[in-house]
Amino acid sequence: MRYIFSKAIEDLPKEVVFVQFSKEKETYVVQLEGGRKALSLGVEEPEKLTRRKLVLLARQVVAVAKAHRFSRLAFSLQDFRFSLKLSDKDLAELLAVNFGMANYEFVEYKTPPKEGWSFMEEIAVLGKVSSEAKKGLERGNLIAGEVNACRDLVNTPGIDMPPRVLAECAQKAAQGTKVKVKALGKQEIEKLGMGGVLGVSRGSAEEPRFIIMEYQGGKKGEKPVVLVGKGVTFDTGGLNVKPGDAMTDMHMDMAGGAAVLHSVVLAAKLGIKKNVVGLVPAVENMPSGTGLHPGDVLRTISGKTIEVLNTDAEGRIILADALGYAKRYNPKLVVDVATLVGAALVALGQRASALFATDERTSQKIQELGEESGDYVWPMPLWDEYAEDVKGTTGDWLNTSKSRYGGVITAALFLKQFAEGYPWVHLDICPRMIALEGEYLAKGAAGAPVRLLAKMLERL
Ligand code: BES
Ligand code: ZN
Ligand code: ZN
Repeated sequence: MRYIFSKAIEDLPKEVVFVQFSKEKETYVVQLEGGRKALSLGVEEPEKLTRRKLVLLARQVVAVAKAHRFSRLAFSLQDFRFSLKLSDKDLAELLAVNFGMANYEFVEYKTPPKEGWSFMEEIAVLGKVSSEAKKGLERGNLIAGEVNACRDLVNTPGIDMPPRVLAECAQKAAQGTKVKVKALGKQEIEKLGMGGVLGVSRGSAEEPRFIIMEYQGGKKGEKPVVLVGKGVTFDTGGLNVKPGDAMTDMHMDMAGGAAVLHSVVLAAKLGIKKNVVGLVPAVENMPSGTGLHPGDVLRTISGKTIEVLNTDAEGRIILADALGYAKRYNPKLVVDVATLVGAALVALGQRASALFATDERTSQKIQELGEESGDYVWPMPLWDEYAEDVKGTTGDWLNTSKSRYGGVITAALFLKQFAEGYPWVHLDICPRMIALEGEYLAKGAAGAPVRLLAKMLERL
């Protein structure tokens, strides 16, 4: 989306629609003097408007404008501040992020309507706009761009997004930035001893990839933050095949991986002065005569073994290898992001991702950054008692819990066994894989948690 600046609405062509707010409930289009239109949005109690509500309001503006097929809007920054204490930069960034996210639709596979798609093309900011506000708009636009690029990957059907293509997308996304991308193939993965990645991909005709992205924004030799993303390009469940409609949307099981890829690219685009590494183990989980059997034992890169009780708990198997590989970077922090267990949805609903962290202060800070970014997260315990439930019989660790309960926690405790030697954060983003009704986002991928990861890279 393009932003332009103008002293007054009168200086702009008549087709530019002015955005205003009223205290009424309804949203409507007003005919202004001189033939101009205004889009009037109802904000019933403006004094009670919170940051969370402002996020939705910004998206609503674009969603309503799109529905009316308006492609050019104008607004005054001050009108969006209400009684919130936000700096110009912060406010402008929030608006640009959410305008951009609301302007997204996945139309790749659709026949365009006769009258064309209705996307917002240009937004004019009226009045005096500080250089800080301009910076915020620019940053917000970059952030929205990467969130939406992440949504594109996640929304792409499984047939068109096997591990090989996901790796190509990483290369493409990094073009023109300082990010270096490598994609290891099956033989290199074998050489590294990543028995987990190999095991899960055995049943698929598509070979695995291990995607490595490196961005050096900080000093040479400075410890990096390593982001690890689950890249299951389609999750059938394997031999423990998913029943009924549980397989729907499983082309999105690489949402964590896509978020990591685009967060590393975003770090480069924002010029974040940190060293960042992105690791994405990419596999397709298929039922097949050549695939994993329940009872198989896999040796991971660290030497620890996994007893596979259920081939559908594949995410933690490939992440075990990636977390082991992360150690090579001597990282300051490792953050993994995964659509790991449906139990996360049972625990939290669809409004926040589950947050696990080995350090209490880091956990609190991430919660705050969650609020600020709009990628909301909620903390869960990493108590060692839960590890009892994933202790193996034939192998070291079971990939599914002996207990029926607390699946989101036992999955995290499984991962913790492989996240050794560094501070570690785990985000189960199952709850935020898909946008909800009422969020003023297109159906499909929500693009979480790219906004949060960017904030974490900047501020932790
Ligand atoms: N990819 C799924 C988790 C998932 C579920 C993501 C719903 C998005 C929406 C994961 O690989 C999985 O299948 N987990 C199992 C784990 C179980 C076998 C212990 C689950 O959640 O049922
Ligand atoms: Zn699964
Ligand atoms: Zn999965």
